[in-house]
Amino acid sequence: MGMVFLLWSMNVFIKAVGLANSSCRGVEVCGNVTISYPFGIEPGCYIEDWIAIDCKNTLGSPKPFLRRLDLEVLDLSLEGTLHVNYPISWWCPTGNSTTVVSLASSPFVYSKLRNIFIAMSCDNLAYLLSNDSSLVIGGCISVCEEDTIKTNGSSCNGVDCSQTTIPSDLDAFTIRIQSMNELSPFERTKDCKYASLVDQKWFEENLTNHFEVRKMSHVPVVLNWEINANLSFLVMGIDSSHSTCQFANRSSSLGNMSSTFSCSCDSGFEGNPYLVDGCQGKLLAVY
Ligand SMILES: *[C@@H]1O[C@H](CO)[C@@H](O)[C@H](O)[C@H]1NC(C)=O
Ligand SMILES: *[C@@H]1O[C@H](CO)[C@@H](O)[C@H](O)[C@H]1NC(C)=O
Ligand SMILES: *[C@@H]1O[C@H](CO)[C@@H](O)[C@H](O)[C@H]1NC(C)=O
Ligand SMILES: *[C@@H]1O[C@H](CO)[C@@H](O)[C@H](O)[C@H]1NC(C)=O
Ligand SMILES: *[C@@H]1O[C@H](CO)[C@@H](O)[C@H](O)[C@H]1NC(C)=O
Ligand SMILES: *[C@@H]1O[C@H](CO)[C@@H](O)[C@H](O)[C@H]1NC(C)=O
Ligand SMILES: *[C@@H]1O[C@H](CO)[C@@H](O)[C@H](O)[C@H]1NC(C)=O
Ligand SMILES: *[C@@H]1O[C@H](CO)[C@@H](O)[C@H](O)[C@H]1NC(C)=O
Ligand SMILES: *[C@@H]1O[C@H](CO)[C@@H](O)[C@H](O)[C@H]1NC(C)=O
Repeated sequence: MGMVFLLWSMNVFIKAVGLANSSCRGVEVCGNVTISYPFGIEPGCYIEDWIAIDCKNTLGSPKPFLRRLDLEVLDLSLEGTLHVNYPISWWCPTGNSTTVVSLASSPFVYSKLRNIFIAMSCDNLAYLLSNDSSLVIGGCISVCEEDTIKTNGSSCNGVDCSQTTIPSDLDAFTIRIQSMNELSPFERTKDCKYASLVDQKWFEENLTNHFEVRKMSHVPVVLNWEINANLSFLVMGIDSSHSTCQFANRSSSLGNMSSTFSCSCDSGFEGNPYLVDGCQGKLLAVY
């Protein structure tokens, strides 16, 4: 049996270099979501407008939204990802709907690693297109089960449900849903057709049946975030407190280059690497 020593850093006072405003705490809460710096709600408590959060009261419960993109935030990770609630695209006998949320010039891109593109229902030819619809950048087809829909949504293998990967560094796209039979698009089924980006893990693990998506107006989508390199001076100096920041160049799917940076706690430490002394010693087991 080994002896276990618990080593905690006693330095609980945290102060962000970027937070000249001493009334900011570096952590705010909206509904069930913890909002950590560099994100923030109160004026002066976020690193830039793109990652400012509005805490809105929707149907009596507070929910966080990315202020400039008006997307609901489901959770936020300081490891460079966040989940947003993204509107799905649909095409019904009665109408259609496609929302375009452009992330161009923002600190966000749609995560290639974590999202897939899905198409649902019978006879659905779904395209993922560039923002101005001039280029096809992805797509898939879901074909029909003969006569009635016998599939029960337990798999997404091309019958009433198909899935595919998305390009890297995607920052703007639109979706086109088409029938395989353009002349009588709803002949074989009166069902609506759907397509969307979606968090792959959620799609595979959190649903009892893939067809549940057809009753939803929004699904979780994962965005990657990094901070504009221009703002690195706001967190300079935190390298000395168990946190390391790295620069990177990113080229978007629209062809724009941007320089960004991201920070992480050093090995053995955890917490918020964007705050001075935000990274604290982890439990250390010594045998
Ligand atoms: C917070 O989570 C609980 C339990 O999951 C849920 O019942 C509640 O509606 C959530 N509140 C908000 C504001 O989303
Ligand atoms: C400082 O923060 C408080 C609340 O967090 C806010 O009301 C105030 O406007 C901020 N001041 C500046 C200069 O940003
Ligand atoms: C989608 O709906 C709009 C009206 O809301 C209509 O003008 C358009 O033709 C529809 N598109 C398709 C492909 O049905
Ligand atoms: C996307 O396309 C729309 C309509 O064509 C245009 O108004 C918008 O500026 C475009 N956004 C980007 C980032 O190219
Ligand atoms: C329906 O789902 C069950 C598991 O829930 C599976 O065993 C069965 O093969 C599925 N049927 C079809 C037609 O996909
Ligand atoms: C999926 O389910 C897990 C476990 O219940 C939960 O922690 C996670 O937040 C869910 N994912 C999404 C995107 O809702
Ligand atoms: C970054 O700084 C450069 C030079 O000051 C400026 O031209 C550019 O617009 C800035 N970029 C952003 C996104 O603020
Ligand atoms: C990013 O690009 C600039 C100019 O092209 C270059 O000077 C810089 O070294 C690059 N940074 C990284 C981390 O690759
Ligand atoms: C790069 O971004 C700027 C500002 O958002 C935009 O005006 C320009 O069209 C973009 N360039 C390309 C090649 O898309």
